[in-house]
Amino acid sequence: MYNMRISKSIKSTLLFSFAFIIIFSIFLLACGNNKDFGKTKLVFKHGKIAGESKYLTDLITQFESENPNIEVVEEVLPAITDQQRQFYITSLESGSDDFDVLSMDVIWIPEFARAGWLEDLTALFSKDEIQLFFPGPLRADTYQGKLYAMPWYVDAGVLYYRKDLLGKYFLSPPKTFNELKNICRIIKRQERNSKLYGFVWQGKQYEGLICAALEFIEGNCGHILDADGNPIINSPQVINAMSFMRSLIDSGITPEYVTTADEEMTRHSFGNGNVIFMRNWPYAYNIFNAEDSKIKGKVGVCIMPHFDNCPSAATLGGWQLGINKMSKHKKEAQKFISFMFRYESQKYLALNVGLKPSRRDIYTDETLKDKQPFISDLYDILMKAVPRPITPYYPQISQVLQTSFSEIITGSKSAEESLNEAQGKLAEIISRSG
Ligand code: GLC
Repeated sequence: MYNMRISKSIKSTLLFSFAFIIIFSIFLLACGNNKDFGKTKLVFKHGKIAGESKYLTDLITQFESENPNIEVVEEVLPAITDQQRQFYITSLESGSDDFDVLSMDVIWIPEFARAGWLEDLTALFSKDEIQLFFPGPLRADTYQGKLYAMPWYVDAGVLYYRKDLLGKYFLSPPKTFNELKNICRIIKRQERNSKLYGFVWQGKQYEGLICAALEFIEGNCGHILDADGNPIINSPQVINAMSFMRSLIDSGITPEYVTTADEEMTRHSFGNGNVIFMRNWPYAYNIFNAEDSKIKGKVGVCIMPHFDNCPSAATLGGWQLGINKMSKHKKEAQKFISFMFRYESQKYLALNVGLKPSRRDIYTDETLKDKQPFISDLYDILMKAVPRPITPYYPQISQVLQTSFSEIITGSKSAEESLNEAQGKLAEIISRSG
């Protein structure tokens, strides 16, 4: 009897302990699986950032400490714009809410806005705030009078050159493409280094080729579309500019490998000390001047050359922040976006990562001017940078141009033949888009 009572009480103690352990473990498991129990998880998708990307993560950590209820998860896509767009169109088309804030190339906004994939941000920024930003990307971010994204950082094509090599032969940076060719000939002859390349640019068949080619085209007074939006891609100015790009390869000023090169490939080649001139975006400047760089202190930057009697041109590039229309955390996403557009946040990324601010007021910042003297020239370049056509049909236009420009620079078709075909295709796309 006594034994039975004991075993009964042991049984209930055991049962109680067992239940306690299970409940406690479930609690621990919940906390363990999500160390930030009760926080809103905000997913921020962006392309791989070249250089010191850890500073972006540090900035995000600062946002989290100011907003203890929000945890930001960074999800990184490949650096190439064409690959990123592929991801977004598949995912946004299927109505995915897997990410909240996204970074977008300046050329995508009309397409994404028209498809209804982006949250309208018009009410988030006052008129006064908007005026602080560069007008070029803002125009691209506005669709049918509404703002669907805000410029995060801006890009414009520039010419990098080896200050030390030009200085050694008392040469100044070139104003025209012909001067550039001559400088390459002089330096290559004197240096007697067969591994030294003259001029590299992005020539792979992708969006970057359009950006580089547009600088030759506009620098020869040519255009993709006229003022009424009609294609004029087979004009003599465009034919000559594109033939000149091919002639750079034929004459050995530009190495054949550029026909497969993107931004990073040319950046590595120039960074290894093997190139006199490179066309690229401003991000590379910080990387070239890092402590471990082989060409630290030897790099100059200037505006792109032009052809006789035409202006220098820089293609407008850059990345925008927007909110996925399907996001379940729009309030938090807005907070995050507003934080990223603060003066201090943009200055931090400019100083540490080299991403150029979309806010114009930072360009007079003394610390920034001191560290990156080229920043003041960049301001004027950015104010005048040439946009690619701003239309929801840009991806189709881009496909036609990528094919044609690649045919020309690889020598598989003459500029005239290829551009005549491209003209017909562009006319068709534009008449269909009404
Ligand atoms: C840079 C520019 C972007 C452009 C791309 C091409 O990322 O910011 O606008 O489309 O290069 O490769």
